[in-house]
Amino acid sequence: MRLGIQVLPFIFSFVSSQVISSPQPEPFTDFTNYIIWNPAADALPDESLVITWENYPLEPPLVNHPIYRSVDGGSTWTNYSAVEDQVNDWGMRFQPNLYTLPEDFGGYAAGSILAAGVSTPFSLEGGVYIDLYVSEDKAATWTFVSHIVYGDGPETIQNGNDALWEPWLMLYNGQLVCFFSDQRDPAHSQKLVHVTSTDLQTWSDPVPDAVNSIQADRPGMTTIAHIESTDSYIMTYELCGAASCAVHYKVASSPLEFDSAPAIQLISNDTNPIQPRGSPYVVWTEHPDRTDGSGLIIASSASAEVVFVNEDAADPAGWKSVDVGMWSAYSRGMRIVTLQEKKKLFFTNGGNMGNPAYNSIACGVVEIPR
Ligand SMILES: *[C@@H]1O[C@H](CO)[C@@H](O)[C@H](O)[C@H]1NC(C)=O
Ligand SMILES: *[C@@H]1O[C@H](CO)[C@@H](O)[C@H](O)[C@H]1NC(C)=O
Repeated sequence: MRLGIQVLPFIFSFVSSQVISSPQPEPFTDFTNYIIWNPAADALPDESLVITWENYPLEPPLVNHPIYRSVDGGSTWTNYSAVEDQVNDWGMRFQPNLYTLPEDFGGYAAGSILAAGVSTPFSLEGGVYIDLYVSEDKAATWTFVSHIVYGDGPETIQNGNDALWEPWLMLYNGQLVCFFSDQRDPAHSQKLVHVTSTDLQTWSDPVPDAVNSIQADRPGMTTIAHIESTDSYIMTYELCGAASCAVHYKVASSPLEFDSAPAIQLISNDTNPIQPRGSPYVVWTEHPDRTDGSGLIIASSASAEVVFVNEDAADPAGWKSVDVGMWSAYSRGMRIVTLQEKKKLFFTNGGNMGNPAYNSIACGVVEIPR
């Protein structure tokens, strides 16, 4: 998921108590559960907020990844632009991910926004690309950059189909890394891998991040956070198959070396422990109440409204559940954003599939949970 939303590795049924939107928030106030559009989401940083999601209007015209923008802390949103397929004539169909370049890279200035997403035909047959687009004008217009990776399809979760899902971008050590879910290896129903590029034009062969020995296991939906105080990286993912999409995580000193790190199931340290399932997301932020540089890891999943907060060591016994009042979603993206010079946790909820009544885009801005 991720950043994404989707044609899913797994379908959850949710009983959400309500889908009534909160009233429109005042600009730059905290709020939760404010519905801004139907259906599904992913997010981006800065004082101006930009979000995207996969969307299923009737075709033609081909589907695109809408870009909505807010310049008042999430209070009002406008349909700002769209990432449209400029090369395949298939549409931009699934699981968009946005990433702002923190430094000049690949011929693009710092602040340029990269968008990766899955392009495949409406029939889901004939091939699939994870494609990369860029905006050099703060999300107003988008230009094709390169094909990151190709599969023969069909783009379904059926075993044996060469499908690709759920790109997640991150710059590391002079390389742009694209993490994704890879169905192309017949030895594994699905595995998690990454490819790298130094110029955004050519991409390496895939390198494994999470691969289970049992063929039917399906690790999926990589997201990663940098734990700055320890200069280590945490990766969360769902483990579908026998583990019923239980959220797992790995910690490594390099985001390119998760494969050899042990997989740990994320379970809350409540008296009645919560085992979150599906569509995890993870972020890190400096602790708002400390000055020693230590921070908090915040994880989210589709099956729980609470978030899971841990100290920088990511101790398996340290996942504290915190209710921030935000609906769960398939899927729920998180970003640490700075609004009027204060760090906040920004949620972007996609739909929960199934009943259209539960399939809206909602967002929320809350204090850093702790
Ligand atoms: C948003 O605007 C784009 C053009 O940039 C258009 O293609 C799209 O249909 C609009 N989407 C919605 C949901 O209004
Ligand atoms: C749960 O983890 C938090 C750290 O995130 C810790 O402060 C708290 O004491 C733990 N609770 C239990 C019951 O172990």
